[in-house]
Amino acid sequence: MKGVAVPFRGRSIPGALPVVPSRGHESFFMRIDILTLFPEMFTGFLDGSLLGAARASGLLDIRVTNIRDFAEGVHRQVDDRPFGGGPGMLLMPGPVVACAEHVVADGLQAAVGADVGVQAERAAAPVILLTPGGRRLTQEVVEELSRRERIILVCGRYEGFDARVSTALGAEELSIGDFVLSGGEVAAMVVVDAVCRLVPGVLGDEESARQDSFSNPGRLVEGPQYTRPREFRGMGVPDVLLSGDHGKIAKWRQEQAIVATRRRDAGPSDRSGEPSINQSPVPTKKAPELTARAIETTPRSVP
Ligand code: ADE
Repeated sequence: MKGVAVPFRGRSIPGALPVVPSRGHESFFMRIDILTLFPEMFTGFLDGSLLGAARASGLLDIRVTNIRDFAEGVHRQVDDRPFGGGPGMLLMPGPVVACAEHVVADGLQAAVGADVGVQAERAAAPVILLTPGGRRLTQEVVEELSRRERIILVCGRYEGFDARVSTALGAEELSIGDFVLSGGEVAAMVVVDAVCRLVPGVLGDEESARQDSFSNPGRLVEGPQYTRPREFRGMGVPDVLLSGDHGKIAKWRQEQAIVATRRRDAGPSDRSGEPSINQSPVPTKKAPELTARAIETTPRSVP
């Protein structure tokens, strides 16, 4: 199916495969708004190769808005101490809600002239607060987000948001994992990166998104992959991959994906020294000695 123009939300992209199903109405591909106190953190990220090219070609419309621009007073205060005491500062509701409402309205204005379906969807644009207590991000959630016309990501800072922000905006809350970052910016980048690569045309090769870990029906992680050289530090490549037999290769990859997923799910205690059919890379010489020698001969620092 490679090289065929397929419709995605009413447009045809040559070479794109429908990773995300068509909605059947005309639109740009996706608008993402990022609300943050640190807009400069996104400069390199958004201009980088994949996202930069997709933005330049009009597949993605990604905008960054500074929450502090919506703060009041000469000091443009955005944070304050928590009622009832406790450590740190919280993001005040006023600037965050004003900023989000401005961005929602701006998107609606931009949709004037688009068809009714697009306008309705923009009106329902979900505001997503990035916070460690939110719904856990998985590939399933990423796929769900990538089917939306528009998402609005709000980055928390300090000890988090005043609880009324979520209620006032009818927001969803999203976490990228059970750990605490110093702010939602890096989490927003994770979401943008994972979501945008599912928008047809962004990745160049749509098949690779479909073969990614977690994207297959069983949500399996990918097994080991190899490229040239055929031998590296005494380690070879499994014969099946050099056999040219595509049926056998697909079967082997499926088996390896199952093994890799089981091993990942079992956690580190199950990995210690036990033999496995996934014991790879294939040693062709004395791999450990060669690796040790390579480490010994590698300069530790460059003056
Ligand atoms: N902000 C701080 N930690 C976070 C996390 N784990 N996920 C999303 N946003 C966050």
